[in-house]
Amino acid sequence: MVNDRKWWKEAVVYQCYWRSYFDSNNDGIGDLRGLTAKLDYIKELGVDIIWLNPCFVSPDKDNGYDIADYCAIIPKAGTMADFDELLRETHKRGLKMIMDLVVNHTSNQHQWFLEARSSRDNPKRNWYIWRDPVDNQPPNNYKAYFSPSAWEYDELTGQYYFHSFAIEQPDLNWKNPELRQAIYSMMRFWLDKGVNGFRMDVINMLAKKDGFPNAEQPELLDYMSNNPGVHGYLQEMNREVLSKYDILTVGECPWTNPQNGTLFAGFDRGELNTLFHFECTQEMPVVDWNKFKKIQSKWHRAFFGRAWNSQYLSNHDVPRQVSKYASAGVYRIPAAKMLATLIHMLPGMPYIYQGEEIGMTNVQFETIDEYDDIWMKHRYQEIMTTINCEADQKTAFDELRRNARDNARTPMQWNDEANGGFSTSKPWLAVNPNYTTVNVHADRVAGDSVFRYYQQLIALRKTLVPVIVYGDYREIDCRDERIYAFERFTGSDCIRVILNTSAAEIAMPDGCVGWGEQLCNYGKMSKGTLRPYEVLIVKKIME
Ligand code: NOJ
Repeated sequence: MVNDRKWWKEAVVYQCYWRSYFDSNNDGIGDLRGLTAKLDYIKELGVDIIWLNPCFVSPDKDNGYDIADYCAIIPKAGTMADFDELLRETHKRGLKMIMDLVVNHTSNQHQWFLEARSSRDNPKRNWYIWRDPVDNQPPNNYKAYFSPSAWEYDELTGQYYFHSFAIEQPDLNWKNPELRQAIYSMMRFWLDKGVNGFRMDVINMLAKKDGFPNAEQPELLDYMSNNPGVHGYLQEMNREVLSKYDILTVGECPWTNPQNGTLFAGFDRGELNTLFHFECTQEMPVVDWNKFKKIQSKWHRAFFGRAWNSQYLSNHDVPRQVSKYASAGVYRIPAAKMLATLIHMLPGMPYIYQGEEIGMTNVQFETIDEYDDIWMKHRYQEIMTTINCEADQKTAFDELRRNARDNARTPMQWNDEANGGFSTSKPWLAVNPNYTTVNVHADRVAGDSVFRYYQQLIALRKTLVPVIVYGDYREIDCRDERIYAFERFTGSDCIRVILNTSAAEIAMPDGCVGWGEQLCNYGKMSKGTLRPYEVLIVKKIME
């Protein structure tokens, strides 16, 4: 299949972590009605699709990624009627909505698991993964993302069950056809309501290694992903469900490289539309722009004409982009715009995480008690038990804070009133204290608004679809490696994107003279120098 035009390839996605978006009933937690109240704001930005994080019934051990009922709304988010209204109002504005599909695991409070664990011969037993102890020990040495072992012993039936994440998140057994059919009918339930697709949580982890051999490096966790069998499951899911709807499917795929990436998102594969890889985010804890550029070229070479990529720097699992990749200090505003330009101009679908459109930054909580996230608590525990020296513990804690998922989960900052205008009650997670200056209202009235720059970027994408969405990509070699410059081009059109990734003033590279200026994050490009984090988009003037 060729790279034909599709609505989802041309779309820009806005991710909404609803519990931190807007609290409509003042219980300190954002909710679906709160999101509905802010739809006009999202529409104004110019995006096309909202990705809604999980809002299903859940004990919330992992903020909704531990689902206890796939077809009911968690009361703190609202009711099914609230959801229906949200979807209706979204569609009314010409926006689409995708939901999280979390089917690698459920909560241990899901009815399926309660039945499965009740006895060895329960009909649902085989919907999860159970193994006998080996020499009174877990069946192998796998670690889990949020606990020291991926196996939990269940006293009642004398077996271990497998969990890739928390103990409270048992993995489903995708080998079981009955389980797969139950998942497919749940997916139809949401799609028949009119949902426009799914963001599929750790979807490349559905298949496990046969026989669960020990891992050579258990701490890496890479053995959880891309195991034989996963493509068969996705092709079946596509045949049975996805192919029957005109939807967007984006798979979250940790430990994926361009070669196996094309197997998930290839046009001829009958699996997913696109994916998130981690090479520029979780797998790059310390930013290295040279590496970043190489990664982009490598993925483009593998994907161009064959598969569809996604671009993101932030989401609810990683730190705020401006803090990680640039500067949250005096250059916060040009830096936020530079990073926005990057994800909108690189090949693939851009994803904006809530708050990026006003340049929100990381938070620095003083003590572990102020953090909420299960991953953070688990890692903190590890540090405290493995590191003895107090100074080293502090260094490790500082590093953890830089990478904390809660950096991105603090409430949306709407204005400079109490709690940033998010809620009149104490929020479930503290608001970043910089809300008094970094907030939607302040940004909207500022001459150098980040929000307005996002609007301009998105509008530019829409006017130059053939070259920005479908065009080829080539990195331009610059003598100064602090500059990231690339071209997007078709047979008849070409744009150049020049980004200063640093806080230094740098001599302007050759190659912009005589080109038509499209956008500059300082308003107008200067002659001779690139200012801190300056970015330029120029277009070849055709004869
Ligand atoms: C990826 C999700 O984005 C993350 O928030 C969650 O903790 C894990 N998958 C487990 O579902």
